[in-house]
Amino acid sequence: MTYPTFRLDDQVVVITGASKGIGRGIAKVMAHAGATTILCARSAAELKTLQEEIETEGGIAHAFPLDVTSVANIKETFKSIFEKFNRIDVLINNAGLGFNHPALEVTEEDWDEMMDVNMKGLFFCAQQAGKYMAKNNYGRIINMSSQAGLVAIKDHAVYCASKGGVNMITKVLALEWAEQGITVNNIAPTFTYTPGTAERLDNPEYLEKVLDRIPVKKVADIIDIASAILYLTGSSSGMTTGTTLVIDGGWTVQ
Ligand SMILES: NC(=O)c1ccc[n+]([C@@H]2O[C@H](COP(=O)([O-])OP(=O)(O)OC[C@H]3O[C@@H](n4cnc5c(N)ncnc54)[C@H](OP(=O)(O)O)[C@@H]3O)[C@@H](O)[C@H]2O)c1
Repeated sequence: MTYPTFRLDDQVVVITGASKGIGRGIAKVMAHAGATTILCARSAAELKTLQEEIETEGGIAHAFPLDVTSVANIKETFKSIFEKFNRIDVLINNAGLGFNHPALEVTEEDWDEMMDVNMKGLFFCAQQAGKYMAKNNYGRIINMSSQAGLVAIKDHAVYCASKGGVNMITKVLALEWAEQGITVNNIAPTFTYTPGTAERLDNPEYLEKVLDRIPVKKVADIIDIASAILYLTGSSSGMTTGTTLVIDGGWTVQ
């Protein structure tokens, strides 16, 4: 019997949106599991700080600054990563924006900004990663969706639409690339405590409203998300593809 492993030694793992929040935490967990982590986001300085932190902890990290709203930049970056390492094993397609407005107040700029990052950027990162993964007949793509891609949340029309779109992109890519040994799955977190959400979640009234909807009575933390991702990034998860792993403490069962 071959026992499952969650180690990622010798695996090249690309994480978009690695400079802050959930992506930053995921990168550290992937490095702890032995991965060669490729840190992508726009803020080169924040990536450098993270790279140094990972290296100080004994991990492996390389920074590749990337703006996912530019398809040309995505193509160049994935090409450089593949040329340097000769493999891309895992993509954690995490970069995303999360602002919200009542539907009547949404502007064309709001729509374009959110869709450009959450859907278009995510799609083209997956496309480029998939292209290089196919060369080695192996890959794991984990797309960052949200509970908001599964159920409606007031004032989140554009965000919900973008994450619903991510769910369908995942299913189609899973179907197209299954024979190349590439699995494509979604992660769908509930509200997750990060430096970016701390201001809202530290407000007792706001937190009470959120927890009202979460049966386990806590918001997620970065380790809750990274643990689920560790399963999907491993070589033992090859039978799981085209699906959504929901980490919502029960929000969407109601
Ligand atoms: N936090 C939550 O409660 C929650 C819940 C469900 C799902 N999610 C999803 O989880 C993901 C991460 O969320 P988060 O809360 O960690 O957000 P965050 O703290 O705001 O971080 C977002 C990350 O995305 C990067 N990013 C934004 N625009 C980019 C662009 N054009 N090109 C490249 N990178 C870009 C940012 O880096 P730069 O600014 O340096 O480019 C940053 O690293 C998102 O997809 C979000 O929708 C979050």
